[in-house]
Amino acid sequence: VFAAVPAGPPDPILGNCITEAFKADKDPLKINLGVGAYRDENGKPYVLSSVKKAEETVANSKPDKEYLPITGFAEFTKNAAKLAYGADSAPLVSGSISVAQSISGTGALRIGGAFLARHYPHSKVIYLPNPSWGNHTPVFRDSGLEVRSYRYFDKDTVGLDFEGLKADLRAAPKKSIVLLHACAHNPTGVDPTHEQWKEISDIVKENELFPFFDMAYQGFATGSISNDAYAGHQIALAQSFAKNMGLYGERVGAFSLTAADPDEKARVDSQLKIIIRPMYSNPPVHGARIANAILANETLYREWEVEVKSMADRIISMREKLYDMLTHDLKTPGEWGHIKRQIGMFSFTGLTAAHTHLLAEKAHIYMTRDGRISMAGLNSKNIEHFGASVDAAVK
Ligand code: LMR
Repeated sequence: VFAAVPAGPPDPILGNCITEAFKADKDPLKINLGVGAYRDENGKPYVLSSVKKAEETVANSKPDKEYLPITGFAEFTKNAAKLAYGADSAPLVSGSISVAQSISGTGALRIGGAFLARHYPHSKVIYLPNPSWGNHTPVFRDSGLEVRSYRYFDKDTVGLDFEGLKADLRAAPKKSIVLLHACAHNPTGVDPTHEQWKEISDIVKENELFPFFDMAYQGFATGSISNDAYAGHQIALAQSFAKNMGLYGERVGAFSLTAADPDEKARVDSQLKIIIRPMYSNPPVHGARIANAILANETLYREWEVEVKSMADRIISMREKLYDMLTHDLKTPGEWGHIKRQIGMFSFTGLTAAHTHLLAEKAHIYMTRDGRISMAGLNSKNIEHFGASVDAAVK
């Protein structure tokens, strides 16, 4: 029956080129810098202490296993919105934010994409930065939107192509949807400055664009949570608790939309339910309970803030070490300042697909073909092997 089904390509991040090849590699020196998942100083997955405590609190409360409502655990979604928008923000105070719990950030993007494809009256076009997270294009295309791109990354400066970005957002048809990475841009690690954000905000207003923020790394960019949140426009927002709470496999996230008023919010709520119910009925409960136990408890929240900062700081220290190693110790050809300047979990190294192939073959180091590395996969034990292998690959 399915004889004509063609074999599809593997996923560039989760597919067998990286994750499976890494698993199959028996060399003790092997390093996986592919998927953006935090690793501790020993290269091991890390369960936050605040998460362990929250999980205990949840277990002690002996919760049942009943279905959640279609839009999820209401206390969690309320607290997630508070975290993103700020407790005193106007849309929260006026009761105009429609929120639905989602299957992590990806699920939030998908709910949002589907909602905008059905109900955003002005456009079916979404502009993504070039490059963007590899899954953005299929998520929005499968949601029913037309995907276009705006300039973002400048290969020559290994930084932001701000002039290109501004020109493209100005030239986009009025009222198009624009996807913005709220912080810690994936894959480049290049974020606009505060001043540049203001200019982007002005263009979004002038051209009446509809901003859709993907906030997968709140708290990671600078180590501070309130610094990363963004307010001011009527927006859509995808939140993930995979990275900042280390709840990857629990799939905890939220989609939210700032409606004009509580009445519009109620109508948006009803349509989000109509989108979610035929997809997966209602979201899983366990991870949302854990996240909420942290967000709702001042002591756990404070502990969590410290832990997010310590993850961010360890990544920053790896950036500094790698930069010093390549620039000063090994005198590797090229300019490596971007490794220190970039923000969040990833570095866009500038390594080519040929380099990444060589590194996998010769040095047992795995990363995406675009030269992105998850800095969190580096630690004081493997960074020398990584630095020396990069040096050998580019010389
Ligand atoms: C990544 O970019 O590595 C992460 O967001 C994980 C994923 O699902 O791709």
